[in-house]
Amino acid sequence: MKNKAKNLIIVTLLISNSIFIILLYRQTPITRPLQDTIEVSDTTKTTEAQIPLQAYTVKQFDLAGNISGLSKEQIEQHEKLYAGYVKKRNEIMQALKTVDRTDAANRTYSPFRALKIAETYAVNGALLHELYFQNLGIQSTTIGPRMKQLVVDNFGSLEAFKNDFMDCGGCARGWVVTAYSIDDGRLHNFVLEEHNQNVPVMIIPLLVLDVYEHAYMIDYGIARNPYLQVFWNHIAWNVIEERIIKLVEPLRKEVAT
Ligand SMILES: [Fe+2]
Repeated sequence: MKNKAKNLIIVTLLISNSIFIILLYRQTPITRPLQDTIEVSDTTKTTEAQIPLQAYTVKQFDLAGNISGLSKEQIEQHEKLYAGYVKKRNEIMQALKTVDRTDAANRTYSPFRALKIAETYAVNGALLHELYFQNLGIQSTTIGPRMKQLVVDNFGSLEAFKNDFMDCGGCARGWVVTAYSIDDGRLHNFVLEEHNQNVPVMIIPLLVLDVYEHAYMIDYGIARNPYLQVFWNHIAWNVIEERIIKLVEPLRKEVAT
């Protein structure tokens, strides 16, 4: 148990009120190379500025023109918007290294505060879109055994789950996130008003649906229902299974031991 605890790594993807926490397991402990010298200037209060940054890259999904019900133009415009979030995420990350922290503690406005508020919006804007595009499949597939079990255990049936998911899709302003809760070990459909609003903590997103108008307006105008149906018919259930295997099952095994 001691070794397991050692190998348990808590990755906090977001901070503040918008947190996705994923628990990962490694066979060997993480080690970070120590720097021989750390330069600390008078205006720098922490060592964050000395930690080298690696820019996030825009992922490719090969979906444009390949999904019946969503046009090539619709997907391309959506992917362009997603790329903007990755770009801003990198900009914010870089700006935080050198931002003037003279008035950082001010809760009305400071350059530091503005960047920290924008950070969760950009990070979630990028990650939610990646999860969404990844669980959007070209071919129609059927629900896998692991997800089906979670659905039946927590909603009673696939039909009941779909009804709840679609109701959430109808009323949400931003996202629907079907997530496994680390807190209660159950499956939930959550409604997010924006990328960084109403995001529960201690959850693992398994299925993500974008319901912003930009996701369907080119093809359907303001009619959301046909888009919801297209999405449901193109859920990449195999991706959901992979997320359960990688992120949920290790947790459940840990709890059982
Ligand atoms: Fe979107």
